[in-house]
Amino acid sequence: MEQITDCLCRYKNYNFGIGLTTPEHIDSLQSFEIRDSDVLLVTYPKSGTIWTQQIIISICESAGGLHEYPNNLEQMPWLEYTEGRGDYALRPSPRLFSSHLTPALLPPGLKAKKAKIIYVTRNPKDNIVSYFHFSGNSGDLETPKSFEDFFEQYVTGNVGASSWFDHIRDWHSKRDQYNILFLSYEDMILDLKEAVTKICHFLGKNLSDAAVEQVVEKSTFKTMKKDVKANYEFLPEEKVKKDFMRKGKIGDWKNTLTEAQSQRDLDMLISNFYERHRHNNVKS
Ligand code: A3P
Repeated sequence: MEQITDCLCRYKNYNFGIGLTTPEHIDSLQSFEIRDSDVLLVTYPKSGTIWTQQIIISICESAGGLHEYPNNLEQMPWLEYTEGRGDYALRPSPRLFSSHLTPALLPPGLKAKKAKIIYVTRNPKDNIVSYFHFSGNSGDLETPKSFEDFFEQYVTGNVGASSWFDHIRDWHSKRDQYNILFLSYEDMILDLKEAVTKICHFLGKNLSDAAVEQVVEKSTFKTMKKDVKANYEFLPEEKVKKDFMRKGKIGDWKNTLTEAQSQRDLDMLISNFYERHRHNNVKS
């Protein structure tokens, strides 16, 4: 791994937080055995990962047969991180995983199996603001000198998980190789019940309307913020100093980005990829 900043290192064209993983572990994912019943949530950081975890876990709990773990992180761990990692090969099915990785770094078995992938994306303007605040609160990331500074790092892909642009393009261009559902943070905000229903359908879980409503209630920002298994306040302070759940809104970027920043590269990213992604999503 090549160290590129105080907190970031680069391996196989992807930026990792220092200390979160090793090259050996990332390489070992190439032979990690995938099961048909596995469910993998993939996101670029700060796109609604812990929110979607709560939805998926609540749906699977409601449908029955899910092994219990102390919290959502242990129930749905990130495949790429080594810290607190158990032997996932010994886990009972169905196994739920999370990841911020790009397709090439994940187990190839995901293509061959019927394992399900849910990919959630978020408007990069809100994503960058969320990422900026999180970087200031996370013990694993460098505290940005200023928003301007972070903005430049983000648009050039010099942050953890590399470029938003490359991430969404990579996953989107390979969508035919996987059993994958694309969702957006914005659609989830606008109609949470519809998003829960889509996920149920994709996972093949036939929940009653009352059960779907229960999942929706468990997954609202207000409920999740109080849910000790879901709000990530169980992480030690040296990992995350403040709330993992900050505002949970769309359009917050208007309070932070300058006109010039708003019209720069991010608009190009949105028009080229995000809108196309949303359009495809509507069709599917
Ligand atoms: P903000 O920083 O804009 O508030 P991730 O889980 O990928 O790190 O994403 C974190 C973002 O998702 C944060 O955005 C957080 O507030 C938001 N989030 C978490 N739970 C949510 C929920 N139930 N409803 C809406 N947004 C939520």
